[in-house]
Amino acid sequence: MHINVKTGAAEKEPAEILVFYLYEDIKIIEGALAYCNKALNDIISELIKEKRFIARLNKTSTFPTYGKIPAKRIMLVGLGKKKDVTLDKIRQAAGTTASTVRDMGIDEVTSVADSISVLLSENEWYQAYIEGALLAQYKYQRYKYVPPEERQEITALTLLLSNKDALKPARDAVRDGQIIADAVSFVRDLINTPAQDKTPAVLADEAKQLAREPGIQCKVLSRPELKKLGMGGLLAVAQGSVQPPKFIILEYNARAKNQDTIVLVGKGITFDSGGICLKQAKDMDQMKSDMSGGAAVMGAIKAIAKMKLPQRIVGLIPCTENMPGGSAIKPGDIVKFYSGKTAEVVNTDAEGRLILADALAFAERYRPVALIDLATLTGSCVVALGNVVTGMMGNNEELKKRVKIAGEKSWERVWELPLWEEYQEQIKSDIADIRNIGGPYAGAITAACFLSKFTEKYPWVHLDIAGTSWCDKNSAYTQKGASGVGVRLLVQLVQDWNRFS
Ligand code: BES
Ligand code: ZN
Ligand code: ZN
Repeated sequence: MHINVKTGAAEKEPAEILVFYLYEDIKIIEGALAYCNKALNDIISELIKEKRFIARLNKTSTFPTYGKIPAKRIMLVGLGKKKDVTLDKIRQAAGTTASTVRDMGIDEVTSVADSISVLLSENEWYQAYIEGALLAQYKYQRYKYVPPEERQEITALTLLLSNKDALKPARDAVRDGQIIADAVSFVRDLINTPAQDKTPAVLADEAKQLAREPGIQCKVLSRPELKKLGMGGLLAVAQGSVQPPKFIILEYNARAKNQDTIVLVGKGITFDSGGICLKQAKDMDQMKSDMSGGAAVMGAIKAIAKMKLPQRIVGLIPCTENMPGGSAIKPGDIVKFYSGKTAEVVNTDAEGRLILADALAFAERYRPVALIDLATLTGSCVVALGNVVTGMMGNNEELKKRVKIAGEKSWERVWELPLWEEYQEQIKSDIADIRNIGGPYAGAITAACFLSKFTEKYPWVHLDIAGTSWCDKNSAYTQKGASGVGVRLLVQLVQDWNRFS
């Protein structure tokens, strides 16, 4: 989609479709909309008066202009009540705009930016708007024949401003929005790809491709190096699969001096069958998404590099399948991690923490000022929080606060679960340093307790994205399948890093 930001008068714009945004509780029509209303014999004010258009969020009304103004059609899009407006509602309204226009078979749309600017003062909305419009267009069609008539797409989006001074900030924000939407789409593609076509080796190749971006370096460790390093967790999980494991290391700004190093760790299980503790068949197909954390780390680094942010960022992604092959780890086996600690593997389906343990300890060598890990770690987190919000746990109040703020701003929100001492009891083992599952309750927390044994040397936040990484239904700017969660949150966190320090 080509995005164009320009100045001009909406009432004079020869658009295919001209889009205005409205609040539900504001009845006065002003500016260009008032002009168009008059030219169209009060059609808009009457629609509103007669309640045939109520500007609830994501509601639209479209009508032809019969040559009375240069634009062929007008579309009104609701934003809901004024007091309830948020950037995410702008993101949603933009998504609704894009998909409604696309479904009408129109490929060019002109949005009257002023109709939002008068409603929201900050410039940030431009970025959210572009994210919504682009992400709403996302479809995963790699393996599907799509008849030509269903291949509609918006090819051009124009944002029309009346104020010349707003052009520069709007264009900058639009560019950030494009970078982010592009990274989120990249992440969604990786996650939606069937496990057969995204083995650890394929993910490693994708990471190497990322290193073509200026500032990014990629190194991939294979089995011999993993053995040498003693990454017993990753090797143990990989034992049951014919696909060899890979440990992906991405570095952005590796040589930056006097910059904080932030390490991002992502769970990269390309398929989680459960191993010998085999999962039930229902919804097992969704377990191709068990590398969502790893994908988010890749996407975030891609976006951060494109934005040329100053921090030094390291991404660590342990990658393997979790399969029940003849040489698979068995319940009761004991593994020894990179750190030297041992764990009794009581349940082979609790594999994420085993591969993360190695990555988290390995991260110490980068001396991070902060480490954030993202993992589709537990069904228990889905039970607790559903798919609305990501579970957060960690060992550092300041970092948790930063992540929480970044979550609110990007609308990839997080909710803290307690990581209190009492829970550590559950992962004690008689025959190893720890065991890999706790009791039947508080599973998201006991999983984090396990990780906490490997993160003592730096400020750490763990994000359990098991619920938020996958969508069961379509909504304004997400489709069924991978959500791409994590990218927006991580980029926001890094963007704001120096602002708060
Ligand atoms: N990948 C799963 C967690 C998961 C569940 C992600 C649902 C997305 C949706 C993880 O490896 C797992 O199987 N966890 C087990 C842990 C249990 C055996 C302690 C779980 O949550 O059931
Ligand atoms: Zn599992
Ligand atoms: Zn898993």
